Amino acid sequence: MTNAATLEATSSLEKRLRATDIKPQIASRVELSKEQLLSGEYAADLRELLERRGVLVFKEVNFTDAEQVAFTKTIGEFLPEMEGQEVYNITLDPKLNAKSDYLKGSLYWHADGTMNKVPIGSAILTSHVLPTWGGNTEFCNTYAAYELLSEADKNLVEGLKAMHSAWTSLFYYDPEPSYEKLMDMIRIGEVELPLVWKHRTGRKSLVLGCTTHHVIGMDATESAKLLVRLRDWATQPDFVYSHEWSVGDAVMWDNTGTMHRAMPYDPNCGRLLHRTKTAGEEPIQ
Ligand code: OGA
Ligand code: MN
Repeated sequence: MTNAATLEATSSLEKRLRATDIKPQIASRVELSKEQLLSGEYAADLRELLERRGVLVFKEVNFTDAEQVAFTKTIGEFLPEMEGQEVYNITLDPKLNAKSDYLKGSLYWHADGTMNKVPIGSAILTSHVLPTWGGNTEFCNTYAAYELLSEADKNLVEGLKAMHSAWTSLFYYDPEPSYEKLMDMIRIGEVELPLVWKHRTGRKSLVLGCTTHHVIGMDATESAKLLVRLRDWATQPDFVYSHEWSVGDAVMWDNTGTMHRAMPYDPNCGRLLHRTKTAGEEPIQ
């Protein structure tokens, strides 16, 4: 397609979805009604827009859990949690989630399921209890971050791989863990992933986040410099959308072309989001 044809296709897609850009490089607000979203009629359009924009925001759409599950199923293959839950409580409050400790890693830039053979495809969060302070969810567009790298940096990262592990993220929130805790996280395993994901669509995105330990074959200091510089680049304000929650909001992200994090909040304030997910469709390669 020519540029003009692409622009026209984009604007008719956005018209059908009643979608408007929130920021030039990331996130669209979609103002379809709940009934329209649940009908499944717009699912292919929503998937296309999600891939282009990284994040779709449905302000105060007020899905019930059953509606959130039904909507998620229109977007892709529904993926329950490992313990079987369809809808997962995202909260740092141990009374609401027995594994809330593990969620402390979500305060740092990451994508979901990086350690899986195939990472999560997309995910939806809905807001049920607001934080007393902080607690925005931030998203960055890792497609835009790759596409706007300098040619020199594109050449530099091409072909590089990094070691990822859950235990790396442990040190972000528990800098002096017990040996037992470290071993628990080490048992989750390690994977080598490319710094640049070549998607089957032909598009490329950066693969970073708090599971990234080091670049394979690189001196420790050089590796840290490169990984921090790339994370800094990918999370610069132009590539980031920060969502301030209202109760009833639903936010969906393309987990294959974005990273996200929770901003700090009072862990005892009851902040509660409900998450559903779709299965990924391709490994990181
Ligand atoms: C998640 C996550 C961020 C938040 O649900 O996967 O990282 O803002 N949540 O709670
Ligand atoms: Mn997450």
